[in-house]
Amino acid sequence: MTSSTPASPAGTTIRPRERDAILQALRAGVVPRVGQQHVQVGRADEVKALLTDIDRIADGGSAIRLAIGEYGSGKTFFLHLVRSIAMERKLVTVHADLAPDRRLHATGGQARSLYAELMRNIATRAKPDGGAMGSIVERFITAALTEARESGTTPDAVIRGRLTSLSELTGGYDFAEVIGAYWRGHDTGNEQLKSDAVRWLRGEFSTRTDARAALGVRTIVDDATFYDQLKLLARFVVMAGFSGLLVSLDEMVNLYKLANTQARNANYEQILRILNDSLQGTAAHLGFVLGGTPDFLLDTRRGLYSYAALQSRLAENTYATNGLVDHSGPVLRLANLSPEDFYLLLTRLRHVFAGGDPTSYLVPDDALTAFMTHCSSRIGDAYFRTPRTTIKEFVNLLAVLEQNPGTDWAPLVGAVNLVTESNPDLAPLPDDDGAAQAGANAGFAGQAGPEAESHAAGLASASDDDDLATFKL
Ligand SMILES: Nc1ncnc2c1ncn2[C@@H]1O[C@H](COP(=O)(O)OP(=O)(O)OP(=O)(O)O)[C@@H](O)[C@H]1O
Ligand SMILES: [Mg+2]
Repeated sequence: MTSSTPASPAGTTIRPRERDAILQALRAGVVPRVGQQHVQVGRADEVKALLTDIDRIADGGSAIRLAIGEYGSGKTFFLHLVRSIAMERKLVTVHADLAPDRRLHATGGQARSLYAELMRNIATRAKPDGGAMGSIVERFITAALTEARESGTTPDAVIRGRLTSLSELTGGYDFAEVIGAYWRGHDTGNEQLKSDAVRWLRGEFSTRTDARAALGVRTIVDDATFYDQLKLLARFVVMAGFSGLLVSLDEMVNLYKLANTQARNANYEQILRILNDSLQGTAAHLGFVLGGTPDFLLDTRRGLYSYAALQSRLAENTYATNGLVDHSGPVLRLANLSPEDFYLLLTRLRHVFAGGDPTSYLVPDDALTAFMTHCSSRIGDAYFRTPRTTIKEFVNLLAVLEQNPGTDWAPLVGAVNLVTESNPDLAPLPDDDGAAQAGANAGFAGQAGPEAESHAAGLASASDDDDLATFKL
């Protein structure tokens, strides 16, 4: 097993602050905010599929993918990875987790709240940590000024020309007015006007009266305009010199958990709208990637499959079973990590723990194999499918060895106590009856088999594609 895995990235040093941040996140079971490239393994095929989408978005098209994976299988990690790639390719990205008060469709402000959260996280390559709205608008102005200078026209004329094409889209009139207000603020040195315009774009005005007083527009970004607003933003970022907009939504299971059928269906209808636009290619320069559990997709009572129009559009390719994969449809099954991936992951963790210095490795290769064998005998093959617990345990083990020099690793590995992870999102729901829950669980369990097999094929083709297999951020 070890001979076929690439060596850990020896020679890469890891700064102490980055090391600590990575380890702290992994021990808490969450995705590190920085330095993911030091631990990333696998996902070559999935990344390749998303690269096609990103190129299509940059080319003026649209895309939607549902990254479906079991609890702790690496959905959030994958979404992070996709965002970094998108930013590298000059896309603007926005991302948010869905929550009871953050939805795609609502009447009580929850969709605006999702929009505002997305805009707080708006990021570009130069501002990868979010808060980039101001600099994007500023770039739009700079681009227009340059064009005006080069073509010998006035900035006003250039900007008006660009905004006209926005005004023609749904909700575009006020959007264009707001950008116009920003330009006036820029031109006259009115900082208040500029910041009000940015606040409007960020969905932070909660009443029309305030927006009218500040900017002279009649509307605000609200629940009803959530999606139209994203379409406008996608056009706008292209005018500012970016390649398009990628919207990343995680924790989609929150829609599945909505107890009210009508509210749930209204949200699914919004997904259908996005999906239709994307499949028909009508939303220019705009892409979506959604992270969710198999239940969110497959459950026929509360999941996307409960909505007939979505079920027919999202039905997986019936030929893609028994080791065959199809990454051309909207549903992207996050394959399980393979034992090879997992071994590599352990070498990476050891490397990070040692601050990138191979002479400081706390355990030899034998310990990695022993750890895997131990996990496998404890909880079966599930240990590498859902890496969260195993990563935590391994990092804890290294922490003990570090703080107690001279301790023998072997008995410690033997004492690692693992339990199979359970998904808190599948806890009984308030209005659930027993039958529904049993159905949900059956759907979940039924997926494990084919998914494990399909990964084998994924790996085989991944090794054919060297530059993607070793993709680095
Ligand atoms: N490809 C990978 N390479 C290295 N580490 C990974 C990979 N995928 C996931 N991890 C790590 O595994 C842990 C769990 O991953 P993540 O949080 O992405 O799972 P998830 O599917 O989003 O879980 P949940 O269902 O709870 O949302 C994290 O610590 C993450 O850093
Ligand atoms: Mg997650």
